Amino acid sequence: MRKIEILTWILFLSLSSNLSALDANDKSVIRGSIVFRTYCALCHGENADGKGRLAEGKVPPPANLTKTFLNDAQKEEIIRKGGMGVNRSPFMPPWKDELSNEQIKDVISYINFISKTK
Ligand code: HEC
Repeated sequence: MRKIEILTWILFLSLSSNLSALDANDKSVIRGSIVFRTYCALCHGENADGKGRLAEGKVPPPANLTKTFLNDAQKEEIIRKGGMGVNRSPFMPPWKDELSNEQIKDVISYINFISKTK
């Protein structure tokens, strides 16, 4: 091979490996965004700011998830058990029967990804 061809290959390979560099967490965030839009956005809002269509007039309002201070274990607990399960608003439903363990993990990855408090 000529030198220029070798250089072109090196460039091509380094570019294509960068493009496919989604790690496991990136993939979890992507799956989690789908879970979020399907099950959570109606209350928590498309932007997770707590301003979903079902939020109007609710006291307490659905949390602004971009500003949550809960750690992952606390997030998982309220998502699994709902507000009632952790002495908070019953308007936050329990999701343990609707979502798989992986979907719960993914939606937490998504919340952490969009969070401004991390
Ligand atoms: C029917 C409306 C509704 C839906 C749907 C809903 N939530 Fe909530 N959520 C709430 C309300 C209301 C609160 C606030 C509870 C409180 O403050 O007592 C809340 C609170 C939370 C909190 C606690 C945040 C904090 O900082 O305290 C998390 C995490 C959360 N929701 C995640 C989710 C996820 C993930 C989904 C989708 C799988 C979801 N919620 C779907 C209404 C909803």
